[in-house]
Amino acid sequence: MESVFGKCYDFGKGEGLELEEMVKEGYDLLGSLNWSDHLPLLGWMDLQGVRRRCRILVQKVNLFVGGIIEEHRIRRVTEVSETKSRVADFVDVLLDLEKEEKLSDSDMIAVLWEMIFRGTDTVAILLEWIMARMVLHPEIQSKAQAEIDAVVGKSRLVSDADIPNLRYLHAIVKETLRMHPPGPLLSWARLAIDDVHVGGHFVPAGTTAMVNMWAITHDEAIWSEPNEFKPERFVAEDVSIMGSDLRLAPFGSGRRVCPGKALGLATVHLWLAQLLQNYKWMPSSEGVDLSECLKMSLEMENPLICFALPRE
Ligand code: HEM
Repeated sequence: MESVFGKCYDFGKGEGLELEEMVKEGYDLLGSLNWSDHLPLLGWMDLQGVRRRCRILVQKVNLFVGGIIEEHRIRRVTEVSETKSRVADFVDVLLDLEKEEKLSDSDMIAVLWEMIFRGTDTVAILLEWIMARMVLHPEIQSKAQAEIDAVVGKSRLVSDADIPNLRYLHAIVKETLRMHPPGPLLSWARLAIDDVHVGGHFVPAGTTAMVNMWAITHDEAIWSEPNEFKPERFVAEDVSIMGSDLRLAPFGSGRRVCPGKALGLATVHLWLAQLLQNYKWMPSSEGVDLSECLKMSLEMENPLICFALPRE
């Protein structure tokens, strides 16, 4: 929220609660089966009320995000005479581009909302899967902690600058993205605009298609022992996860690749390093259930509950 809107919110109250409810409503709408998509003749009746809920959500988002843009505009004018001490956020970046790129308010609202909407649950869900794996595999957790101790030492906190030197930590994040990709279906809908043949299959023009990244990352023909959690495989082979290697493209690839991948990875690496540097993570009496639940993202069906013991 701070990088995009330049503001911190208290969750559960005031504007924080409003934002939380809008994000939740968006995920509910995207994750629900809409019969109107499959039975176009009934579509206009909007029997489940999906279209009506979408309209209400769009109005709320326009009002909320439009208000933040307006606040920035006013502040940018008044700030000219005052000292400019504020760090620029993503709204400022878009406002700087406004004239050059002919951005309308609705373009800016759409881009800003996408950043909030797509950037929140993916990062949280990936960290939850990683921590579940850390609890389940104490020997891997200890190895990552030993690496952090060796690179950072015990007298200071791990920082952004240390992250490139933590190779095993990177391997753990990659292996979790392989086994539990938060976005397992790339581009919920891609449309074939021409007749095309893909790997021996005929795809007629007009077909809606999705890429099942989960199936690729669990395919025995591509990965040895695909159901084993083995970060070591990425120490032995440095596979890029940024979209150039289609064996593992958890952020997609090509024109619709995730624009937040660098920010998402930077956040996850730093938080994971801090969590491991400071605590030893252990299972609760309920254990760890790795069952998956596909909503908008691939979530843990039963949220992780575990113990954190401060390390020396
Ligand atoms: C580790 C965290 C993240 C994962 C695993 C992830 C994954 C993905 C995936 C799989 C897609 C779809 C790509 C495709 O359809 O080909 C996507 C799209 C997108 N992501 Fe991320 N993402 C993450 C973090 C973020 C963050 C932090 C932001 C924003 C700050 C973000 C913003 C977006 C947006 C706006 C899109 C839509 C792009 C488009 O449709 O053109 N993501 N992400």
